[in-house]
Amino acid sequence: MKTIALLPALLLLGACSTAQKETATTPPSLKDAFADSFLIGAALNTDCTNGLDPATDSLVSLHFNSIVAENCMKSEKINPSEGVYEWDDADNFVNYGTERGMKIIGHTLLWHSQLAPWFPLDSAGNNVTPDVMKQRIANHISTVMTRYKGKIHGWDVVNEAILEDGSYRKSPFYEILGEEFIPFAFSCAAAADPDAELYLNDYSMASPAKRETYLKIIADLKARGIRIDGIGMQGHMGMDYPDFAEFEKSIEEYGKAGVGVMITEWDMSALPTVNQGANVADTTAFNKLLNPYPDGLPEDIDREWNERMGRMMDMFMRHADVITRVTAWGTDDSKSWKNDWPMKGRTEYPLLFSRSLTPKPFLNKYLISSE
Ligand code: XIL
Repeated sequence: MKTIALLPALLLLGACSTAQKETATTPPSLKDAFADSFLIGAALNTDCTNGLDPATDSLVSLHFNSIVAENCMKSEKINPSEGVYEWDDADNFVNYGTERGMKIIGHTLLWHSQLAPWFPLDSAGNNVTPDVMKQRIANHISTVMTRYKGKIHGWDVVNEAILEDGSYRKSPFYEILGEEFIPFAFSCAAAADPDAELYLNDYSMASPAKRETYLKIIADLKARGIRIDGIGMQGHMGMDYPDFAEFEKSIEEYGKAGVGVMITEWDMSALPTVNQGANVADTTAFNKLLNPYPDGLPEDIDREWNERMGRMMDMFMRHADVITRVTAWGTDDSKSWKNDWPMKGRTEYPLLFSRSLTPKPFLNKYLISSE
């Protein structure tokens, strides 16, 4: 009798301890914390998406609902010579995101950097004619986008087209086709996958001159009926840039222009600034003064870094009505390109997770409130 009377109580106890266990073993996640605000993403390298880095896989699967390819979809990787496509890494990247139900971002279709050398040149090594350039752009965009049609949420169609003074970068695309290369690329992309979102993506987006040019490009595309869905504001930051007010103004102005705003490539260098841009062609001689914290970030710098990141995240939350995604350029500090740029061999601390894979303190208030 006693046993029977006790049974419901025991069952209840069992249920409680299971529930407790679940809370204890499922840590709060960034994707839950920001679920009502925007997608939260990370750039992944091929170790993770080729199954060689289970620790990063666990972190990404828990915290992120969007991923972007750090390198494997760039033209030098995916289309290294004319007519030759290397799909393996990009296929694994897309499968990785698809299996986990993530919003997958393709990066990038047209970019002057990491551009396959053959792309703008004829057999004599001279720039190709405008007609040939158009054919190559159309082929590249259509071949890559068609392979992943229906699987990719959005594409960085054109990356880093404008300089800080608002003028067009003198890339091979611009030299051969002029300003028209952007509308042309967007038309090709819209035709290749009508369901994928199409973006312009660039750094130094707090620059007023750059903002003006991008606003003009957005207005021009819209006036011509060419689809553009969003603008990616690369978030490569440091301890003394960007100007927060100008960065916020850019978020507001792009939002008003009727496109989605994404904070892409977010990282904040904790080290002395060497160069504010993200022009990866720059090199600076290694200098010990510029790698001051190889054994860990001093507490005061760490506090200041977290305070700046927290202010930025608060800014993104204030504009969650127009911001559709916030993506970090990497997972934990050891995976950041900033360890090797603008010079090799730095120990950097720019990402959302430390080398021990713990979330940085500025995220705590969001993680705690989402529990
Ligand atoms: C970087 C990658 O993180 C590095 O691994 C690679 O060596 C160079 O490119 N702007 C961009 C990104 O749009 O594609 C760049 O990624 C960083 C700057």
